[in-house]
Amino acid sequence: MENFTFYSPTYFAFGKEQECNCGKLVKRFGGSKVLIHFGGGSVVRSGLLDRVKKSLDEEGISYIELGGVKPNPRSGLVYEGIDLCRKNDVDFVLAVGGGSVIDSSKAIAAGTVYDGDFWDFYEGKPVTKALPVATVLTISAAGSEGSPDSVITKEEGMLKRGASGEAYRPKFSILNPALTKTLPAYQTACGITDIMAHLYERYLTNTKDVEVTDRMIEALLLTMIKEGPIAVADSDDYESRANIMWAGMVAHNNCCGVGRSQDWTSHTIEHELSALYDCAHGAGLAVTMPAVFKYNVDHDVMRFAKVAVRVWGCQMDYDNPKATALAGIDALSKFLSSIGMPKNFEELGAKEEDIEKLAYTCCYGDGSGSGVIGGFVPLKQKDVEEIYKLML
Ligand code: NZQ
Ligand code: ZN
Repeated sequence: MENFTFYSPTYFAFGKEQECNCGKLVKRFGGSKVLIHFGGGSVVRSGLLDRVKKSLDEEGISYIELGGVKPNPRSGLVYEGIDLCRKNDVDFVLAVGGGSVIDSSKAIAAGTVYDGDFWDFYEGKPVTKALPVATVLTISAAGSEGSPDSVITKEEGMLKRGASGEAYRPKFSILNPALTKTLPAYQTACGITDIMAHLYERYLTNTKDVEVTDRMIEALLLTMIKEGPIAVADSDDYESRANIMWAGMVAHNNCCGVGRSQDWTSHTIEHELSALYDCAHGAGLAVTMPAVFKYNVDHDVMRFAKVAVRVWGCQMDYDNPKATALAGIDALSKFLSSIGMPKNFEELGAKEEDIEKLAYTCCYGDGSGSGVIGGFVPLKQKDVEEIYKLML
């Protein structure tokens, strides 16, 4: 195991009606003038926004509102939010929504207290300072409620890029699984896929002897395989949603990723798809992951065979471990398909003729990329093109 530090100071309030404590928590974490940031309207329709505002009113906390965050959040609204925060002396940003709303909130929080262009952080500058951010989560997926990360798409060139820094860890996150009941089954499945991807990105490591985190990841994957289909089939099943919600946080606050190298190839390759075609991140990952894993399987057949046996219940074929490894990848594909995820480029709305461009942007970005991606197997543009071809 490699040396590591782990500091994840987010306060979690988990369970039914926890959003009613929002005002008290904002006060506890020092907010007095709040920007409430939200998406395209689901929190208005469900009445959640009103409950959050009532809770702030009860504590005498003033606020302004900015809605309209789109899935795969854009830089334009971030600039608007930064302006709004500066003009109104906002000292706390409260995200009410999913990963897109949370990521947009984080970008606004950093941009408000930074003299330059907030996009600098999305070109590699570490985020060291930001207004405090907190979340009321409405979808189990991205894990942004406990992560130090944010992903934003710059409209100019449709570049989707991530930024990271401890200042991005939410001060508190309210996790009420009942809030996810209004999600369409497709979005629930996209979230499940994203959570599983966060686990695989960490499982695919070149670090030896990391049994404790291997076992944690396997337990979380088994949980998703058991609870995922229940949540997709029955939106009212609170317990499956509760298990998935906590799994989504644990999968991505990095307690399962410490002390080991990580991959992130599937995410890097997927981000180009959701940037260009505006598909849901989870749907893009459902198509991307099996292709990446098949391409990389020979790098460490036994690692793929291990997850196949321990998680997917495949029989170990000692004469042909690669067959076991491939059976595990196949089981993952079948599972994702069974919960309604797309299988290929066509079902995702992606186009074969874009492959060269996708692979170029993936490896080189706007000219700032190194040309090599992947923490598990280093991949160049030609490799990435081959992986996209496996998705056809
Ligand atoms: O905008 P509204 O109307 O709220 O609708 C949203 C949106 O259309 C809807 N929704 C959310 N909660 C709902 C609901 N509809 C009904 N009832 C509810 N309770 O769901 C749609 C998707 O929402 P979004 O926030 O985009 O989903 P998600 O949480 O999957 O976030 C995706 C974004 O997170 C990024 C992705 O790349 C993508 O941009 N990621 C962020 C990460 C991070 N910050 O750590 C890591 C991830 O790997 C990921 O890359
Ligand atoms: Zn993800």
